[in-house]
Amino acid sequence: MKTLILAGGSGTRLFPLSREHYPKQFIPLVDDESLFQKTVKRALLFSSPQEIAIVTNTDHRFLVRDQLAAIGCDCRVLVEPVGKNTLPAIYYGAREITRDGPDTVAVLPSDHLITAAGPFHDAFRRAERLSKDYLVVFGVRPTSPHTGYGYIRPGEPLGDGSLVDGFVEKPDIETAGRYVADGYLWNSGMFCFDAALFLAECEACAPEVARAFEQPLDEAYGAVPALSIDYGIMERTRKAAVVPLECDWSDVGNFDALYAALSKNGDANAVRGEHIGIDSSENLIIADRLVATVGVHNLAIVETKDAILVAARDEAQRVGEIAKALREKG
Ligand code: GDD
Ligand code: MG
Repeated sequence: MKTLILAGGSGTRLFPLSREHYPKQFIPLVDDESLFQKTVKRALLFSSPQEIAIVTNTDHRFLVRDQLAAIGCDCRVLVEPVGKNTLPAIYYGAREITRDGPDTVAVLPSDHLITAAGPFHDAFRRAERLSKDYLVVFGVRPTSPHTGYGYIRPGEPLGDGSLVDGFVEKPDIETAGRYVADGYLWNSGMFCFDAALFLAECEACAPEVARAFEQPLDEAYGAVPALSIDYGIMERTRKAAVVPLECDWSDVGNFDALYAALSKNGDANAVRGEHIGIDSSENLIIADRLVATVGVHNLAIVETKDAILVAARDEAQRVGEIAKALREKG
């Protein structure tokens, strides 16, 4: 199986760890490896280095190559002239990676944390069996009405999964609440399909993308609209199937999610670095220097070379507002 790893996005909710030139997927968030490096290692469970391609942009191509070299994986790096969201990235990558013949393609975002390799691998084995006839997505059981995810309505049972009866990308909070109550699944953001089927579905559901790619790469990227695979294909196709992803999965979307993913000490503090806490619990602390706290709870305290963030953990989603404030400050 071939694997495409998407590594072109940027995030703003992990400031000051993530910046425009150093997005979330390249940061060693939970240990010494970045989420991107962990993703490459997961891809190696079912693809050889020659079968893996990274799709990234000009700004991050050296970072990608350095991080690949650090884990000794010599795979292809496809550089987009400009980021146009995930559908053009996947279209370009799927076409390139299967030039030597038709094949099944796994698409992995590089900004997720998945801890159990076994269930992850199993899910892809099941998906591969459906991938000739269906675009396969991986469903995660929701724990809240999160508005940043796609929602999948499972239909008739099919092989090791089910048909997809409906797919809605990033619904509003009320709709998301209804979907959770009605048994919808979160879209994990990973896909598995036969490349020819994907290209045909793209032709049918998002012909403007297929048309643009009839031109040379620079012109294609100039003409193609920015569109995610979720809005462009998954909401429109009738050929989708879902298999369950039965393992811990986090998109580490903010510091609260990072706190949940890290191991905690006796006071339920998650600490990367050195911390002395007097009557301090349930804090996330990341710093190169000693951090001492007295009587504080549920905070995120994050220090980098040039900035310190102190935030209430339950307001961690609002850290994204800092990027906007910084831009306005100039
Ligand atoms: N090469 C490339 N070019 N990669 C990109 C681009 C691009 O223009 N835009 C985003 N990516 C990469 C990101 O780095 C990430 O690894 C992946 O594609 C997904 O993009 P996100 O921007 O993080 O998508 P999302 O989180 O809003 O939504 C997707 O993931 C959710 C799960 O985390 C959707 O698939 C949702 O349906 C899903 O629930
Ligand atoms: Mg994401």
